[in-house]
Amino acid sequence: MDPMRTVVVTGAGSGIGQATALLLLERGQPVLATDIAADALGPVADAGARVIATDLSDAAGRARLVAAIDDGPPPTGLVNAAGRIVLRPITEVSVDDFRSVFATNAESTFFLCQAMGSRMTSGGSIVNFSSPSAKFVATTEAAVYAATKAAISQVTRSFAMAYADLPGGSIRVNALSPGITDTPMQSRVLDEVSVSRGISRAQLEEGRLATVPMRRTAPPVEMAGWVVWLLSDAARYMTGQVLNVDGGMVMW
Ligand SMILES: NC(=O)c1ccc[n+]([C@@H]2O[C@H](COP(=O)([O-])OP(=O)(O)OC[C@H]3O[C@@H](n4cnc5c(N)ncnc54)[C@H](O)[C@@H]3O)[C@@H](O)[C@H]2O)c1
Repeated sequence: MDPMRTVVVTGAGSGIGQATALLLLERGQPVLATDIAADALGPVADAGARVIATDLSDAAGRARLVAAIDDGPPPTGLVNAAGRIVLRPITEVSVDDFRSVFATNAESTFFLCQAMGSRMTSGGSIVNFSSPSAKFVATTEAAVYAATKAAISQVTRSFAMAYADLPGGSIRVNALSPGITDTPMQSRVLDEVSVSRGISRAQLEEGRLATVPMRRTAPPVEMAGWVVWLLSDAARYMTGQVLNVDGGMVMW
């Protein structure tokens, strides 16, 4: 990381994205923070981030973010934490559900990685977000989300290969695959899936914890620590990896 350059953090209004932006700011790293929810950007703005509210699921919204990037110090990092989940019985998923979740998760990750190629002109690091759901099926109500996360793992590898040896230096591209992390997204999973399965929230929570060998969930700041590590020089020989940080849920 370079204190004269910016780390762009998407999804900075909540959960892991917000924790990451706050940790970077605490360490003196300039941050350009973005989210679709303008009000949610208050805490990171108060901590010193430059902020822009925009919808990353469409090209015009992404273009606004790219214009804001071009309007400030050059980027050294990109954290693609914005994400959306639609929870619906797999037989009831609509084409709109499918397209909107792919647009927010996979399309935005792909095209923001693409935009960085000509902007991180002297090296840098990109961190995308995959999920254990890319590798095993526990919640069929999240089938579309899971498919976007599998897509993001491969988008990560493709850009890692494309950016490994650029004239200005490598842009490293890795993904974090967080296990169950206590964020508003997780809370929605518990609320909505318990109702659709006709079981209590506590029962669902217990069933999900049983899939975690370490038998605990993680606070967002724990994931933020791994993101900051992936951005840092300590990880300078690592690219194209999907890092499982999940209490042992996925061991491959
Ligand atoms: N929480 C977990 O257990 C978990 C596990 C595996 C992967 N992940 C991934 O980690 C990332 C962060 O998840 P989280 O749990 O912090 O979620 P979260 O819901 O708390 O935060 C996601 C943020 O993305 C923003 N966002 C949604 N759609 C957007 C759009 N179209 N444009 C711009 N911003 C948009 C939301 O407003 C929200 O602030 C996501 O990619 C998620 O898929 C989370």
